[in-house]
Formats: sequence, structure tokens, C-alpha cells
Amino acid sequence: MHAVVLVGGFGTRLRPLTLSTPKPLLPIANVRQLEHLIAHLSTAGVTHVALALGFKPEPFFEAFPDGMCAGVQLHYAVEPEPLDTAGAIAFAARDAGITDTFVVMNGDILCDLDVAALVAFHKAQGAEGTLHLTPVDDPSQYGVVETTADGKVQRFVEKPAPGESESNVVNAGTYVLEPSVIDRIPAGEKISIERVVFPSMVADGTLSAMPTDDYWIDTGRPDTYLKANLDLIDGSRQSILSSIGANAHIDASASITHSVIGEGCVVGAGCVVTDSVLLAGSVLGDRVRVERSMVMGSVSDESSLQDCVIGAGVVIPAGEHLQNARVPDPEQKS
Ligand code: GDD
Ligand code: MG
Repeated sequence: MHAVVLVGGFGTRLRPLTLSTPKPLLPIANVRQLEHLIAHLSTAGVTHVALALGFKPEPFFEAFPDGMCAGVQLHYAVEPEPLDTAGAIAFAARDAGITDTFVVMNGDILCDLDVAALVAFHKAQGAEGTLHLTPVDDPSQYGVVETTADGKVQRFVEKPAPGESESNVVNAGTYVLEPSVIDRIPAGEKISIERVVFPSMVADGTLSAMPTDDYWIDTGRPDTYLKANLDLIDGSRQSILSSIGANAHIDASASITHSVIGEGCVVGAGCVVTDSVLLAGSVLGDRVRVERSMVMGSVSDESSLQDCVIGAGVVIPAGEHLQNARVPDPEQKS
């Protein structure tokens, strides 16, 4: 599945931090926010991400020089001028050749949403677009959404004036869209999805929404950027931070989730490591997948391990796919 991630804003509210670094490339507990976000999307089956770039695209090219991030293939869509949210989504979707149901995410969101469940809800609704919703204390800074009991959006008001809406449930910045939404947005025009496209979809009765109450934060303000960092290290999140040992070399395009990486380990480009322990000195080649495994030795390019234990000195050859294996096998007497 394809996704478009909006990363072209000016990050005005986070100045001066964003004077030197675009907001999505600022780290949250030492990992760039965009890597957290794309690793999260990859768990829902997203394999291609189009970055909707505007302001300062160069740092993104430098951050991911091989066009991979968290095991996901990147497409850089650079707007000739800021096109606002809808213009940017349509530009990126056209540029990346998206022709099927796709996911959109604001680049400053960190959350524990089950994105696959949002896609399933969207399909069950038969909707043209489906929003993720979250409750907040002060809805005035967000897009406020009113829905029917069966999940249809009745009203969408971006940054409402006080008293304009009773709801404290807001647009959480993750959408599932049909390609027909792109057709609603004329090429090259500066249009807001929140102020123009969503209200017109509400009028047509084609917009649905799914609320959840799991962890959610927009990191775009100084107080929320700080909170997002501290929440990750104090364990408020479901997705727990990985622990990375000294002198470990982890390629910027690798994705490490809920794992312990020992001292001096090497993790190559495009690797995905989940729920695993790499003991000191172990080496992963490029595009290796390691899930629920413990590794002391080396795993060569394009191999995958699920529920495996790999001893010291072992070299798993390239392209090997192992499940429930112990190497060397402790049962085998030599
Ligand atoms: N490429 C591109 N071009 N990206 C843009 C542009 C543009 O012209 N303008 C904004 N963006 C990107 C920002 O970088 C950010 O990732 C995303 O679009 C949303 O912009 P914000 O500036 O962060 O909007 P917001 O936080 O005030 O409101 C949005 O998010 C809320 C949830 O946090 C809206 O979608 C609200 O409805 C929503 O509630
Ligand atoms: Mg924001």
C-alpha cells in the first residue's frame, strides 16, 4: 500500500528549532520523527511513502540518501510552491502514480493508532475518505469533527471559533483516501483539505471517521514536542523505545522497534528489527528482517529470521528465510 506523508510545512510554531531542521527530521528520543512515523506505517503494510515536500527538501534527501526509510521505499515529491494540504497531497499522489486506496498522514503526528484497522473500517464503510479522530481538551487548535453513531462525518470545522462546535473530538491527521479524492483537487492549485475538500465530501456524504482513545500527539508546538520526547522515555507509549548500545552502526534507513541493539552491532540499509535482541558485535547485512529473535552472529543481505536464536560465529547466508530455528542446532551432537 502507498502512503503520502505531509512534510512541507514551515514548522513556524517550533522556531528556532525548525530554522535549521525541518520539523519531521527533528528527533523524538534520538530517532527522527519521520522514522518513527514511517516505521509505524510499515507495520500496517505500507511499502511506499511519497513525501509531500515543499519548504527545505534538501535535508530530507541527505537524511535518506538511498531513498529508503524504516524498510520503506521513499518517493520525493517536491512542490514548486506551497500548495497547502490538499494541493500537496494531490501533487504527491500524482507524482508517485498512486491509483489505489492510500493512506495520508500529517508529518507531525505520533500515535499508537492501528492503521490497518483504519483501512479495514474505511473499506467496511464503503467511504471515499476516512479520518482518524481523537479526543482533546482544547479543540480550537484542530479540525473539529461531528459524526453520526454509524461513523459518517456530519460536520468538519477547521480551527473553530469559541462556541462554533460542541465536539471535543478532532481530526487526528491520519486519513485513508480513495483515488477519487485526488480528482476533487485541480492540479497546481493551493487548496486546504481541511477547509475545502473535507467539507465538500461531508456535503456529498462520502466522508467517514473512526475515533480511538489510544496515544496521540501533534508534536508541532514546543510543549507537545517536549512531551512527545518524554512520553517515549517514560513508557507512556505502547510502542516502546529501543535501546541502542555504544558504537552500534545503524543505517539511517533501518527500522528498529521495541528491540535491544548491543554494543558495536552493525545494522545495514533497509533492515527491519522488531521485538528482538542483537547481542554485542552481531552484524546484519542490507534489507535483513529480524522478528522476535536473538542474534549473536551475522545475517547476510536479504535474509529473514522469525523466532530464531543465532549463536556466535554463525554466518547466515544471503537470502535465507528461517523460522523457529536455532543455529547451530543445540540438539545436533558434533
Ligand atoms: N507539502 C506541504 N505543503 N505540506 C504542508 C503544507 C504545504 O503547503 N502546509 C502544511 N503542510 C504539512 C505540515 O508540514 C504538517 O505535516 C501537515 O501538513 C499539517 O500542517 P500543520 O501546520 O501541522 O497543521 P495543524 O497541526 O495546525 O492542523 C492539522 O493537524 C491537526 C492534527 O494535529 C489539521 O489537519 C487539523 O485538522 C488537525 O486536527
Ligand atoms: Mg500539526
